[in-house]
Amino acid sequence: MQEIQITRTAQPKEKPADESKLGFGNIFTDHMFIMEYHEGQGWHAPRIEPYHPIALEPSAMVFHYAQEMFEGMKAYHTEDGRVLLFRPERNIARAANTCERLCIPPVPQEDFMNALKTLISVDKDWIPTQPGTSLYIRPFIIATDSHLGVHPSHSYLFMIILSPSGAYYAGGLDPVKIWIEDDYVRAVRGGIGEAKAGGNYAASLKAQVKGEKEGYAQVLWLDGVERRYIEEVGSMNIFFKIGGKVVTPALNGSILPGVTRATCLDLCRAWGMDAEERRVSVEELVAAARDGSLEECWGSGTAAVISPVGTLRYGDEVMEIAGGGIGPVSQKLYDTVTGIQTGKFPDEFGWTVEVK
Ligand code: COI
Repeated sequence: MQEIQITRTAQPKEKPADESKLGFGNIFTDHMFIMEYHEGQGWHAPRIEPYHPIALEPSAMVFHYAQEMFEGMKAYHTEDGRVLLFRPERNIARAANTCERLCIPPVPQEDFMNALKTLISVDKDWIPTQPGTSLYIRPFIIATDSHLGVHPSHSYLFMIILSPSGAYYAGGLDPVKIWIEDDYVRAVRGGIGEAKAGGNYAASLKAQVKGEKEGYAQVLWLDGVERRYIEEVGSMNIFFKIGGKVVTPALNGSILPGVTRATCLDLCRAWGMDAEERRVSVEELVAAARDGSLEECWGSGTAAVISPVGTLRYGDEVMEIAGGGIGPVSQKLYDTVTGIQTGKFPDEFGWTVEVK
């Protein structure tokens, strides 16, 4: 493991006075992590520096061909003063898969974990404490070769920035309205849908804007081939409770393998519920909404945590779920996931990692 050089800021910024007004991803802490890759040298020069703008050539490859990946994680303060990460090894493993798909050399796992822990420890006073808040962690890698040929870069930057944040959706745990998109698609199998690549999110914007104009918070994507099977929402995976069973689309190559998705499955199964990963068609969903067997729907994600879905719209069909409120499984998942993350509930699964 490489030693991280730490330069602390001489001008600490003012911390947000009102944690209820943080929003998501608006404010950044005093420091950032940075590490470089050059072919022949590998990943090297890990350091923590005061948060600052970076200079890149206009010809840097990331600007032209989007060779870029990112992750999303959170750190929490517990009431007894500890700092916890939640299943970070899963994000690190997923980052390695994303790197592999995008021809980016993966950061060694122990250097990645050490970078997270060291940066969070340096900026731990920035972790908000109000219920519903956390320190959002954004690791990312960009291609930095100055070159316009289409092939993998030979140099990269790995950075981590931190953002004290509140709920992803402005309404907090209020149920969201989701638009089922049947025109634009997000990803196809064989593409980069299962990778955490910025390009997937660029591809989602057009439909997102369309949905927002109609008063919907996000878009639920259908598969790119038959436009029939449910995939995921803009910034989260999707779950249904249909006829007493929990159901989520199976990972098929174009769906992001969410850490919170895995956590929902693990918890529901530990509670003795049927939790299926399978294909879910939009016709099945509409039929279940019509006959009353669509009992609940929620999204899962690091940023979104557990986000109840109160309304789904597909064409002219508007489906109200759980009376537009929060269903009992969604509520229990939210309470349990956030309870474990913030140390209020016992960590029976060994999911938390303490930052000293
Ligand atoms: C996360 O949940 O951490 C994500 O990366 C989703 C993001 C697009 C807000």
